[in-house]
Amino acid sequence: MLRENCWPIMKKILLFLCLACASAFGQKFPDLALTPPMGWNSWNKFGNTVSEELIRQTADAMVSSGMKDAGYEYINIDDTWQGERDGQGFIRPDPKKFPSGMKALADYIHSKGLKLGIYSDAGAKTCGGFAGSRGHEYQDAQMYAQWGIDYLKYDWCGCEDLNAKGAYTTMRDALYAAGRPMVFSICEWGNNKPWEWGGAAGNLWRTTGDICPCFDCKEDHGTWYQWGVLQILDLQAGLRKYAGPGHWNDPDMLEVGNGMAVNEDRAHFSLWCMLAAPLISGNDLRNMTKETAETLMNKDVIAVDQDKLGIEGFRYSSDGVLEVWFKPLAGGDWAMCVLNRSTRPQKVFFNWKNEKVGDDLSKRDTTFDTTVYRIRDLWTKADSGTTEKPLNAELPGHDVLMLRLQKQ
Ligand code: GLA
Repeated sequence: MLRENCWPIMKKILLFLCLACASAFGQKFPDLALTPPMGWNSWNKFGNTVSEELIRQTADAMVSSGMKDAGYEYINIDDTWQGERDGQGFIRPDPKKFPSGMKALADYIHSKGLKLGIYSDAGAKTCGGFAGSRGHEYQDAQMYAQWGIDYLKYDWCGCEDLNAKGAYTTMRDALYAAGRPMVFSICEWGNNKPWEWGGAAGNLWRTTGDICPCFDCKEDHGTWYQWGVLQILDLQAGLRKYAGPGHWNDPDMLEVGNGMAVNEDRAHFSLWCMLAAPLISGNDLRNMTKETAETLMNKDVIAVDQDKLGIEGFRYSSDGVLEVWFKPLAGGDWAMCVLNRSTRPQKVFFNWKNEKVGDDLSKRDTTFDTTVYRIRDLWTKADSGTTEKPLNAELPGHDVLMLRLQKQ
């Protein structure tokens, strides 16, 4: 009798204990990356030539160029920073490349009002052949926390025999146990559908293999491909429903300023903003052309990416050459991006009143038949009338028209 009466109370105690355990272990840090992370990463431009000097100079340039004011925050060191593990198994940076050590570097980055990111791999070796974290996850997380690291990109080389969800969850738990909030960037190239489990494990997940600075091509490396901008764009199909504040699809880092034409860079940047993608620049911030700087620091386009609603845009229409994308924004506005995939100029005609642009995901509708929007061109900065008159424009090849439709 007594036992029966106790059971409801026991159940409550058990539930309480379970919740208490779950909050002590097995979590990711809350309130990180509520908008897509913005920063810089060494890999796309510098590959295996990272050094303390480069990172310090890049931090200086991030401030002096205006990138910091535009919202870029993280300075991320990619692969090849690692030295040997010490006798107890703790990782050390390569002393030749990082003579002052990571703690001093993190202090410097923090003194500039910026944050420092680092890179490792779930396997025993990174893609560049340096020490990975397999078997050292908790030690590595502890070390990063001691150094003052704010962001970890975690790669997937040499992991064929690992369960991806399990491996990334282990590192998530290690980071949480180390106690210093770090954005956790899952980099397993979309092989194991990270969009299905990545939101619980981390803050962003790569959806594809590596990008290359090419607008419309792929590079065959035998066992793997590098993808151009349009190829990566097309690989995002069906993924938008998985993204949102704190957990983003990552179509890879930016190649703006790394060799594409200015119009291609502009289209690349605009499309990444329509995708609510992390904006991790990958060029040499110390030597930017005026055009590269203007592309990366277009605050109106960045505002589309960083919009508080956190809803990824969608392809509304395509005739194979011209595509029209929409993204719902906070406060009833919309972003619209018209992409010309071809190399030839194209005529754009869009009669707003005849177009029914609805979004099942956000349950939003433009209601162009009854609502008039003011139109702002986010690249020319011109006010371009309203949606009462059809849009009539000519769009150069490999370029975009990017508009903000403002509710009157
Ligand atoms: C993989 C990643 C890249 C980069 C390299 C470093 O290819 O996808 O982004 O981090 O490894 O070796």
